[in-house]
Formats: sequence, C-alpha cells, structure tokens
Amino acid sequence: MEQTDVLIIGSGIAGLTLAIKLAEQRSDLNITILTKTEKGETNTRYAQGGVAAVWDLESDSYKKHIEDTLDAGDGICEKNIVEIVVKEGPARVREVIDWGARFDKVKNDIEYDLGMEGGHSENRILHYKDLTGWELQRTLMEQIAKAPNVKLLEHHFAIDLLTQHHLGHNITRVTPNIECYGAYALDKKTGDIITILSRLTVIASGGTGQIYRNTTNPVIATGDGIAMLYRAKGRIESMEFVQFHPTALFNPAGENPVFLVSEAVRGFGGILKDKKGNEFMDKYDPRKSLAPRDIVARAIDNEMKLSGAECMYLDCTHLDKEAFCDHFPTIYDKCMSLGIDPMKDMIPVVPACHYMCGGIKTDEDGQTSIQRLYACGECTFTGLHGANRLASNSLLEAMVFAERIHKNILNRIDEFEINTELPEWDAQGTSTPKEMVLITQSVKELKEIMSSYVGIVRSNTRLKRAMDRLFILYNETEQLYRTSAISHQLCELRNLITIGYLVTRSASMRRESRGLHFTTDYPDKLDFVDRTIL
Ligand code: FAD
Ligand code: SIN
Repeated sequence: MEQTDVLIIGSGIAGLTLAIKLAEQRSDLNITILTKTEKGETNTRYAQGGVAAVWDLESDSYKKHIEDTLDAGDGICEKNIVEIVVKEGPARVREVIDWGARFDKVKNDIEYDLGMEGGHSENRILHYKDLTGWELQRTLMEQIAKAPNVKLLEHHFAIDLLTQHHLGHNITRVTPNIECYGAYALDKKTGDIITILSRLTVIASGGTGQIYRNTTNPVIATGDGIAMLYRAKGRIESMEFVQFHPTALFNPAGENPVFLVSEAVRGFGGILKDKKGNEFMDKYDPRKSLAPRDIVARAIDNEMKLSGAECMYLDCTHLDKEAFCDHFPTIYDKCMSLGIDPMKDMIPVVPACHYMCGGIKTDEDGQTSIQRLYACGECTFTGLHGANRLASNSLLEAMVFAERIHKNILNRIDEFEINTELPEWDAQGTSTPKEMVLITQSVKELKEIMSSYVGIVRSNTRLKRAMDRLFILYNETEQLYRTSAISHQLCELRNLITIGYLVTRSASMRRESRGLHFTTDYPDKLDFVDRTIL
C-alpha cells in the first residue's frame, strides 16, 4: 500500500500542468503521477497544429473565438465554459511560455506567428513548427523534474478507482455521495498490484482513439480513465461525438497510429482535391478546405464512397518550398520517407479517429460526479467542445482546467484524510492466461466493429449490429478477467470494449444528426437539444 496526498493518473499536458502548479504552491504535499508507459508517450506529445488563443486584441477578440467555438460545437457547448476557456486561455499560454515553451515568431522575432485552422475566423494558433505538442511535453517534463514533492511512476497502469464499493457497499449509478479513495495500479515491470491511497485523485488519462482501426492517437489512448469512472458509477456524457480528423496520411502499408497531416497545412494554403486534381469542398461548405472538421471529414468520406477511391488528396504543390519546410518539417520528412514529395505530388489523405469530445462530466472546477475525484484534459466532457471540437482548443482546455482544478484542490485538500480501510488487491482464483491471442484478436475485432458500424456515418442497423457484437466481446472478456491474472493488455481490452459500448450506446440514443454524429436514419437536427448522459 502507498499513500499520497494527490494521485494524478496521466503525464500529458493535463496531468503535468496540474502537478507543477500544486507542487509549486504547496511543497508540503506529496503528489504521485502514474503513467502507463514512458512519461513522454502521450497524445500531447503528438499535437501538431498548436494552441488556439486570442493573442492580438487588435485583429482578434474573445467574442470571435467564443463564436467560432460555439459554431463548431453545433448547439451543445456550455456557453459559460466556452467563455471561461477563451478568456482565461491566453494567461495560461503565457505561463507555459514563462516555463520555457517556445512558439514560432514572425521575422521581427517579437510577434508570434499566429496560424489559421478550420473553423477559426482569425489567425490565432500559437505553434512551434509542426511539433507544438512535443515542445509542450518537453517543457512540462523539464518543469516537473524540478519538483521534489512529485513522484512520477512510469510503467504504472491504473486499473480501477477505489470507492465505497471496495469497502463492501453496494454502489449503483444513483447512489449519492460516492467517494474516491485512490486507485489500484499495476507495476508493469514487477507485475505487482499496488493500492495507492490518496486524499484527492485526478484522472488525466487522455483519449480513446484506439477503439478504431485508423487513429492518429498513440497506442496509450485506450480510454482507461473514462472506463474506470464508468465502472465506479460516475457520470459520462456525449460519447457519440467522436472527432475524425479529415487529413491523416494515407499509407497503404498500414500504421498504428496513422500519421497526421495537420489542419495547419490547409490553413497555410493546402487545398483538398480528388485524384484528378479537382477541388470538391465547394459542394459542401462555402469555407471549402477550411470548413470545421466534421464537415470536411464527412465530405472526404462521401467523395471516397462516391468514387470508390482509397483516399483524397491535399495539394500543396503551389506553396513555397522553403516556407513549407520551415513550418512543417516533420510532415515534409514523413511524406518524403514514403516517396511523396509534397512540392511535386499531392499528399494522399484519409479521415482517421482523432479526438473524443465526450467523456467524464466535470463542473467548472473540474470536479466529477464522484466526490474527491477530479478529471482534466481529453478524458473529460467540460462542455467546451459540444458536438464538435474546434481545432487547437484541446491543449487550451487542459491548461485552463489544470489551473482551476489546482485552485480547487488547494482550497479543499485539508478537509480530507486518507482512508486506510481499503483492502489490498485480491488475486485469488486467477492464473496467467495461456493464450495471448485471446486478447489481441478481441482488440482487432473491437476495432473492426467500431470502424465498420460506428464510424463517420451511422445508422440504426449498423449501431444495432455493433451493440450485438460488442455484447459477445464483453461477456467473453469479463469471463477472462475474472479468471486471469491481471495484465495491462487485458485491462486495456476491457476498457476499449467499455468505450466502444459507451460510444455506440450514446450514438443510439441520439435520434438526430448533429456535429460529429451523423446517422442516415435521422439526417436532420432536432430543435430540442439534449445531452446523452450515461
Ligand atoms: P494525454 O496527453 O494523452 O496524456 C494521457 C496520459 O495518461 C498519458 O501519460 C498516459 O500514459 C496516461 N494514462 C492513460 N491511461 C492510463 C492508465 N490506465 N494508467 C496510468 N496512466 C495512464 N490538440 C490541440 O489543441 N492542438 C493540436 O494541434 C493538436 N494536435 C493533435 C495531433 C495529434 C496527432 C493528436 C493525437 C492529438 C492532437 N490534439 C491537438 C489533441 C491533444 O493533443 C490532446 O487532446 C491532449 O494533448 C490531451 O492531453 P491529456 O493530458 O488530456 O492526455
Ligand atoms: C492538427 O494539427 O490538425 C490538429 C489540431 C487539433 O487536433 O486541434
């Protein structure tokens, strides 16, 4: 058993930013961060485009960023949360600059080079080449290394949250005052399961992209935090809103994750075309290649279906080579490594699962429906993104909520004691599974189900098929879980199935098409707007 004041699950922008702030303010607090592989392997690290923030008040305004966010969110954003994030965002960006993060500047070396992305009415994306996430992750890891009261445990996999359920109480979704006392975690190197008791716990476990065959998310993005919260009977919202990025690089050899071609490339002048070099976006939206993501991804999907093509193309051949290479060195190198010269060839692109807009419901201080438990970052539904996230609003959201959560924790932590009555993990009656294929094959099946039936375009029949097949996978996996010694692969499979179920169930509940959720059975929007709460 271990004890800590604050337990944070995740070492991406959400978890690290929060830990740095807590550690700075209260050197007497012990903070423990769990991360399931290496500390730098996060969705954050792969962010390309940048951070959206109102920077130049002469050309831009909070009002415009708020309107763009609400417009992308298609009627489901929480307006007060949008206002909070947009207005508090710039100060958070300044903070991370103070910690050492670099963002590209224009030639005078004073003003920031503000980029453009789909759905934004102004240039407001701060970026570091096409490596913004890497730069942020680097900065945060350097800062955290300076905090003596933070213990960062790599290769430690959080399995489940500890609640009254573990004290023998019957907990249901309507039980009031569920409390979190920490988590069980697997030390992947020793195989030991440790009980980590905490005064307060924060889930900052990132995204869920690995439920699909094609995703820009690294393999860590298996939705563990959302699945844990659901098992602990907490509140989850809006899981039908899965964002597909329109332009992942099409690689016939197959890659996991697929490589992203940033939306910033379209902001820089790249134009979507078909194989013959004809533009097609004007058929779908007057903003053409720079329409919000849901519209562009559906348009590409539709063009591929109509023509039977494997991909569409992003034409950058008219752009200046030096400027392109300066802004997008990683994208240029990746294309060249596959024999595609972006200055001579159109870049083949396909939509790929990119971001989970739904998640753990939190209030404006990041508190979940479970007491003593917060959530921050991509695993949450704060209300900012509604039915579709505006590009580059995610890193901003994580920074703003890390600040709010840290303040709330500092105000409240002294009210709570560690609960020492929790039992240690019980592994009786389990044995090491003899066939790993039982797990790996089920992961493949799950990805096939979700990609075939719960993708960009949905229907009642497809969703019903998905649900029936998920039910079989669920039963098989629960049986395996009850009788097997814990492995992170088995836990991830279980979590992926839970996320698949939550997405499919929420999609079945929404009898309209809105934002990222499009169903052929209900192609129109309803006047009455409601949330899917699970
Ligand atoms: P993450 O950064 O994913 O961190 C999650 C952490 O949780 C990891 O450390 C992981 O190991 C840990 N974890 C998960 N499960 C467990 C477990 N069971 N036990 C222990 N640890 C666990 N957003 C933007 O705003 N702008 C962009 O330009 C942008 N570009 C993107 C490009 C790509 C390719 C991708 C994939 C995403 C992009 N996004 C972008 C989205 C953004 O990067 C993410 O939403 C954001 O970084 C999420 O941060 P996070 O801290 O919530 O989660
Ligand atoms: C991109 O660079 O296109 C990703 C931006 C984002 O996901 O916000």
